[in-house]
Order: sequence, then C-alpha cells, then structure tokens
Amino acid sequence: MSNQEKLKELIELRAKAKLGGGEKRIESQHKKGKFTARERIDMLLDEGSFEEFDMFVTHRCTNFGMEKETYMGDGVVTGVGTIDGRVVYVFSQDFTVFGGSLSETFAQKICKVMDMAMKMGAPVIGINDSGGARIQEGVTSLAGYAEIFERNILASGVIPQISAIFGPCAGGAVYSPALTDFIMMTDKASYMFVTGPKVVKTVTGEDITTEDLGGANVHASKSGVAHFNCQDEEEGLLLIRKLLSYLPQNNLEEAPVTECNDPIERKDESMNSIVPENPNQPYNVKDVIYNIVDNGEFLEIHRDYAKNIVVGFSKLNGMSVGIVANQPNFLAGVLDIDSSRKAARFVRFCDSFNIPILTLVDVPGFLPGSSQEYGGIIIHGAKLMFAYGEATVPKVTVTLRKSYGGAHDVMSSKQLRGDVNYAWPSAEIAVMGAAGAIEVLEGRKLSTIEDPAEKAKYIAEKEAEYKKQFANPYNAAKYGYIDDVIEPMNTRFRVIRAFQTLATKKETLPPKKHSNIPL
Ligand code: HXC
Repeated sequence: MSNQEKLKELIELRAKAKLGGGEKRIESQHKKGKFTARERIDMLLDEGSFEEFDMFVTHRCTNFGMEKETYMGDGVVTGVGTIDGRVVYVFSQDFTVFGGSLSETFAQKICKVMDMAMKMGAPVIGINDSGGARIQEGVTSLAGYAEIFERNILASGVIPQISAIFGPCAGGAVYSPALTDFIMMTDKASYMFVTGPKVVKTVTGEDITTEDLGGANVHASKSGVAHFNCQDEEEGLLLIRKLLSYLPQNNLEEAPVTECNDPIERKDESMNSIVPENPNQPYNVKDVIYNIVDNGEFLEIHRDYAKNIVVGFSKLNGMSVGIVANQPNFLAGVLDIDSSRKAARFVRFCDSFNIPILTLVDVPGFLPGSSQEYGGIIIHGAKLMFAYGEATVPKVTVTLRKSYGGAHDVMSSKQLRGDVNYAWPSAEIAVMGAAGAIEVLEGRKLSTIEDPAEKAKYIAEKEAEYKKQFANPYNAAKYGYIDDVIEPMNTRFRVIRAFQTLATKKETLPPKKHSNIPL
C-alpha cells in the first residue's frame, strides 16, 4: 500500500468511526430529540479543542455471533479538550452502538480518560445515554462497571466529577453518576433507576411510569439524586461549563479568580428593610444572596429539592464562594432530614475543593415530629454539623434573623470553627423562640390561670420580657460568639473584607485515616 493509500485508509476509518452505529441510528437518535455522543462533546467543549482517544477500539466479544458486528469506538467517545481554556477529560456514551451498552473495552476507554484526568489533575465529565451492561458480554461488563466505580471513588475529592444523564441510565449503571459530585438530567428525556417499571410491577405490584419512577423531575425534586433538571441537552451542557467556572481543576488548586466589575463597597439601602418587622413573616433569602454577590449571579444547586435551604455558587470580588442559606420562604427555613443532607454534601464539596463558604442564617430550629425522628433526623442533622465542623476552608457566617437551639450551633457557629461570624441587628440568637420558651418556663403558673383573657395577657407580658432579653444579637456578641453586629446594607463589603483577610487561613485536622461521618 502506498503512503497515499495509507492516508486514504486513515481518513476513511476516521469517517467510519464518526458514524458510530450508522446513519439510520443517528437519525433515530435525532428523531427522539437527542444529540449524538460527538455532537454533545462539540457543544460542551471550546470549539476545535477536542482530541479523541481510542476511536479504533472495537469489542472482543464472540458470544451470540458478536464478532460479526463491531463498531469503531465501541459505543463511547472519549478524549480531552478545554472549557474556557482549561483542560477537561470527557466520555460520552454513544446510544447508536448497541444502545450505548457497556462492554469490557468500552469500560477500558472510560477508565483510561479517568486515569489521565487524575494524573493531570483535571475534571472529568461523563455524558450518560446507555442501556446498561452489554448483555452479550456478561460478567466482563459487570467488572468493567466496577473498574469505573473504583476510579470514581478514588477521584472523589481530588478532581471534580460531573455527570450528565441524557437518556437511559438504569440498574447498577446509576452508581457511577451517583459517586460523582454533580448530576444533571434532561427533563422528560432521561431517567435513572435501580430497577425499571416492569420489575417494580413484578416485585411490588406497583404500576408506575418510567417518568414517575426515575425522570428528571422526580430526581431533582423528590429524591435529590439530580442536582439540576435541564430543559434540554444544550442547557445541560452550558450549565456544565458554567459550573466549572466556579471550581478549581483539582483539590490542590484554588478556583479561578475572575475580574470583578461590581464595586465591593456597593450598598443598597433596601437591604436594611429586607427582614420583615413581624418575625413570623417570611422573605426570600435569595434576594439577600443576589444583593451580596457579584452582579447578582448565583448558580443554585438542588433548586427544587429541600427548598428550605438554599445552596449554590457565586463570586465575591471575583473569588468563588459556596453559599448556604436557610430559606424562610419555605417551611420557615427549618432544618429537616433532606435539607441537612443537601447542605452537608454541599459543604463537604466546597471543603474538598478549597472553596470558601458563606452561611446566611435564619433558622427556627429542627423540624419536630415522629416522621423526622423515625427517619433519623438525629443522624442527618449530625451530617451537617459534622461537615461544618470538619471544614477547614474560610467560613463566614451572617445571622439575618432567627438562630435557635441546636440549629444555631449547626449553622457554622463560632464553636464549629466559624472564622468570622456577623449578625444583623434583627438577629435573634437563643435556645428557642419566645412562645415555646414561655410554655416551658411558665407552664405551672399558666395552668393556675383560669380566665383566658388573663392567661393571654400573662403570656404576652412574659413573651415580651423574653424577647427583650433574648431576641437580639447582643447576648451572643457579649460572649464573643458574634464578632460584630453589622448594618445589612454593608454586608457585601464586610463579607468580602472578611474573606480577603481569611485568604491565608491554615487549619488542619488531627491525623487520621478518614473521619467517620454519620452516614
Ligand atoms: C446490548 C443493547 C442493550 C444492552 C440496548 N441494546 N440495550 N444491546 N446490551 N444492555 C441495543 C438494542 O438491542 C438495539 O440494538 C439498540 O441497543 C437500541 O435499543 P432499543 O431497545 O431499540 O432502544 P429503545 O427502544 O430506545 O430502548 C432503550 C432501552 C432498551 C430502554 C435502554 O434497549 C432496554 O431496555 N435495554 C436493556 C436494558 C437492560 O436491561 N440493561 C441491563 C441492565 S442491568 P439495534 O441493533 O436494534 O440497534 C445493568 C447492570 C449494570 O446494566 C451493573 C453494574 C454494576
């Protein structure tokens, strides 16, 4: 073969590989409103930056006459490229080849990019669209999954791992995304479950649709498995780019600092009246967040799950920061099982990747009741406490209003190694709210008052007395638990200044193999 012919052969092979499972199947993919594995990579990465690996790999299976049906690349497109000029490793499952099902060689391709991502200290992004284990391969496929799982585990806390679910993801296959840091799903076009509707029907008798069992909406709002529910693939891929702009490449680096054109001393008088006079009236804590952060930009994580706590990323003077805020607009901002788990995972992510944490507190306490107790609120609440207490990144806390009981301690209090703890004049830091306190303290006396009017008057007097004594930030400030009481409209400036002074913070944990967080 002449050199010209060899060149021609290469070009033809490349063209063949790019067709995956063939034009018909590509057409069928498009008809479902889905992009192909390669189109997705092109949309995700900086233009022209993708370098593909292993496009000549084919499977080695000979069961069921499989040797007669091979496709170059074997159902997954892998390689390296850049996002905003920073290196990322990617794998994108190709549904046009055996339904994107995972073979031994398919798994090896994914493991190769994961190993390279670890060596290079760069994020890894996985796009999932697969029928699961390649049935014809049997146990080698299962082993392939386990090879990936182990790499997900070892990479956790070392490099950011992001999963997009753009089609089926079922059976044990769900566990690779579950081991990564963030999962995004496309609305009505993707699903994740351990067992599908047919098995559910056989085992439990329950009739349920694919969408209701494991659709994006379910996982983004009910189970919390998905961090984002995207309208379509384009939105999902743009979101990955946005998310990475807040993250460092690995756990030994800092997140990128961007140019900030929003003055750090910007003040907005409306902040001084954002907290309503009536302590039982809700307000939207996101308005406080938008006001404090650069240009009002906030990338919310888990927006539709456990809405009583808000978590997400912003920039402060160009520096990435993770924000955790109780949301008075939903269940009065109470801490319950789901919100504790949601915030704990977020705090741990930030701490793993050197992202400072800003905590905005307005919490009436933990949610009482048997369903919470039976569900293990003790253990789940402890997760959030553990995450805050263990985190060594700079931690700035601002108490906006209520900070009661155990929830006060949990929410990045001074004693959980909060570095700078501010409070607004509207803060109420106490063991519990006035009504509950008076019931406990005055119970015996109240039982002796027969006249309802007299009883109400007595309660009102005692509550007023209690509020005067405790419904303020100064008691805590007296003990140094609050470093300063600040004007709400100065919050942006004070918080940025605090983080600037904390930039050189060094804090360590006692030597140990790893902690035993209450899982
Ligand atoms: C081999 C598969 C496959 C699989 C799909 N295909 N899944 N080939 N192994 N697991 C092939 C089909 O034969 C078909 O080939 C092509 O992919 C497209 O599949 P369709 O069924 O035509 O597509 P669609 O109607 O969109 O349905 C998609 C699907 C369905 C819902 C994913 O294919 C399906 O139910 N597949 C089986 C899923 C499954 O049970 N997987 C094993 C789960 S257990 P042609 O040639 O016609 O294009 C598991 C364990 C993991 O994954 C354990 C990890 C620890």
